[in-house]
Amino acid sequence: MKNLFDQWKISLLTLSKDEVKADVCVIPVWKQQGKLDDWTAVVDKEHQGIISNWIGSSFVKNDREKAFFFPNIGSSKVKDFLVFCLGDPEQSKPEEVRNAFARASKMITQRGYKKAAVVHAGDQLDFSLAIEGFLLGSYRFAKYKDDEKAGQSLDTFSFYVPASTKKTVATALDKISATTRAIFLARDLVNEPGNVIYPASFAKIAKEVCKDRKLTCKVLDLADLKKEKMNLHIAVGQASAHEPKLVHIHYKPAQKAKKKVALVGKGVTFDTGGLSLKPPTAMVSMKSDMSGAASVLGTMMAISDLNLPIEVHGILGLAENAVAGNATRPDDVVRSRSGITVEIENTDAEGRLVLADALSYADDLKVDYIIDVATLTGACVIALGDEIFAVYSQDDALAQSIGASAAEVGDNAWRMPLHESYKAQLKSDFADMRNVGGREGGSITAALFLSEFVKKAKWAHLDIAGPARAKREFDLTAKGGSGIPTRTFIRFLENLQ
Ligand code: BES
Ligand code: MN
Ligand code: ZN
Repeated sequence: MKNLFDQWKISLLTLSKDEVKADVCVIPVWKQQGKLDDWTAVVDKEHQGIISNWIGSSFVKNDREKAFFFPNIGSSKVKDFLVFCLGDPEQSKPEEVRNAFARASKMITQRGYKKAAVVHAGDQLDFSLAIEGFLLGSYRFAKYKDDEKAGQSLDTFSFYVPASTKKTVATALDKISATTRAIFLARDLVNEPGNVIYPASFAKIAKEVCKDRKLTCKVLDLADLKKEKMNLHIAVGQASAHEPKLVHIHYKPAQKAKKKVALVGKGVTFDTGGLSLKPPTAMVSMKSDMSGAASVLGTMMAISDLNLPIEVHGILGLAENAVAGNATRPDDVVRSRSGITVEIENTDAEGRLVLADALSYADDLKVDYIIDVATLTGACVIALGDEIFAVYSQDDALAQSIGASAAEVGDNAWRMPLHESYKAQLKSDFADMRNVGGREGGSITAALFLSEFVKKAKWAHLDIAGPARAKREFDLTAKGGSGIPTRTFIRFLENLQ
């Protein structure tokens, strides 16, 4: 796959030493900023005080007009300038700074610029927030748009900072670009349609990601899944022309690992519902049913690039839930890898089947923590809407730490109860369990189903059915795959050290 992010060039330069060269140069200013920094003052002077006048104007005072472009007639090697106001420095919150820079990069991207420079002027600004917002906001998925302008994206980023802050910003930049890369990979995978991303092509991309990194990548194909007795996983994927696969990625740090973690992602590359077929409108967007696996792959890439001192297994349960004569039927009873027999009452509750076998596989890896992530239930979207994902865990400390990591990076997480008594809904007349409960508490019963397949590790389950895909444009996220919860995962793993 041609990854958008691979074409990007990011560089960090020194203001007033390196010449500013770009199609567009972004100059952030504060509301009622008294004195401009030296570099901006020169630009201002060369343009008859356009910036200082604007800052002093009633527009900015009233916070009405927030940004404007103007063509360069001065000495620098820049075509145009974009000046935008960050608001009141006394009242500025980190997420507002991130969002403001994301909006600036959107304005630029929409106008078809390709090379952008951002100058770090006022020292009140936390420039790492600026970089993060600017990069995240620039994401687009336009590879199938033939219209030239629509297909163009910002591909060269030059950040100019004063010499005094360069070291600090350089460290932050490495981290931000590794994380952003991971999110963009996850977004790309989610946005790619089901005719492009299917188990084998997904596994091939995973191999490519691992190739030049400290990551080993094992792909279990159908024969291997049979050997592993992963019959639930096979039952989901058997009607597809694309055979199911399980990808096992392993990251082992050079130093002795303090903790071992397994991340397990639902990778249903398309969910028709199977014989319990989805109605047409519910089937649209089901290419995103592999979002969990996409975020796990992105996270593995990032932790290797960041050299985190923990050992992490990334497990992607890949299958297409399709319809054919050999499809799993409602009523079929299948023995899981762990030995528990499952009556498959509804073939559209397939994510928990794939995950059940993947979780039991992960539990054999002797890890401290297992976190699975899945677009698991529509019920979760009804409960929490499309901006919040659910966190389930019996372990208070683990749930707390996932919640805190999410809050730190700006993802929205909410803990939900694993209410044991609802397990009664999963009783089957013919097998150890059935794969669906009733309509009520559907996200909870799905989580309870999964809980049966983890016996050793501390476990958490994230239901990302809502926020995996942005239904509208947000400052930091374009419409489509959000990459959630990649940033939460990375931060969680960083915090574990
Ligand atoms: N992939 C869906 C869940 C989903 C729904 C994700 C909407 C994103 C948006 C999952 O496989 C599914 O179909 N779940 C069923 C379960 C039901 C049959 C118990 C659902 O939620 O309707
Ligand atoms: Mn389904
Ligand atoms: Zn599904």
